[in-house]
Amino acid sequence: MTKPTVFVTRRWPEDVEQRLAKEFDVTLNTDDVPLTQEAMKDAFKAYDAVFPTVTDKIDADVLSGDSIRARLIGNFGVGYNHINVEAAVRQGITITNTPDVLTDATADLAMALILATARRVGEGERHLRSGLWTGWRPTHMMGRQVTGKTLGIIGYGRIGQATARRAHLGFGMQIKVQSRSPVDPAILAETQAEQAGTLDELLPSCDFVSLHCPATAENKHLINAARLGQMKSDAILINTGRGELVNEKDLIAALNDGVIGGAGLDVFEEEPKVTPGLINRQDVVLLPHLGSATIETRNAMGFRVLENAMAFFAGEEPKDRVA
Ligand code: DGY
Repeated sequence: MTKPTVFVTRRWPEDVEQRLAKEFDVTLNTDDVPLTQEAMKDAFKAYDAVFPTVTDKIDADVLSGDSIRARLIGNFGVGYNHINVEAAVRQGITITNTPDVLTDATADLAMALILATARRVGEGERHLRSGLWTGWRPTHMMGRQVTGKTLGIIGYGRIGQATARRAHLGFGMQIKVQSRSPVDPAILAETQAEQAGTLDELLPSCDFVSLHCPATAENKHLINAARLGQMKSDAILINTGRGELVNEKDLIAALNDGVIGGAGLDVFEEEPKVTPGLINRQDVVLLPHLGSATIETRNAMGFRVLENAMAFFAGEEPKDRVA
């Protein structure tokens, strides 16, 4: 039997690539260079399945025309806001993603950013490496205590909940949650969390605010000048979700004007570009979209795409079908 043809848009961990080569007639992007729009269009015309990542913009143009061959988009990642779902559905293309397997890694990184920003970890390391450290002194590089503070979590899906568990059970933080729908009281009880009705209620009472909601059109620039203005003047904003959730220009203005105290960001509005006003600040910690970047997690993400694709081509329902 001929194997389905599959195009993988970026390098994947070696073990997964080897397994893909066994199961499919696979074309790998061994140079790991992001595809041009034209190359992406060609992939959809030439292969039975395309396995993209967050760096691939799969818009209506890519998914237009009557010569599309692909039947499956097996997204390497849980977020799929880079894919025009309606256009894919119009072409009869199934989309799968990789939930669950990156929850812990991403929640770990959210916690790392909370700690790194509050305790000035990046700034301290830069200070030491640049030879400026003159020795211990009582007033040197005082940061903010994390233990016992209030963490507001916006979006209470798997990653939001996992972050809450780390913060509450590990650091004794009080958890406040804002989510579009009512959260099951049993889930709130795990971290003694309170659900706020609106952001207006949540933001003024939090020392840290961490974003875990999807980057839907309605959540674009959810955090803007007005929302930043509702936060405490020493509050720290954490974003491991998607860059589009935060208006970076408003964030920079808020940091400049002392409206909030700092930010820990793993994602940016126009990755890999970072709005210049962020780069030279000491009150922000900036990471290159590392939320799921552990060997264990990236392997698990790849195998999850593979599992979904094998089910799909066997005529079964893939377990992570999103459209
Ligand atoms: C995800 O899974 O959404 C990560 O951000 C990588 O895309």
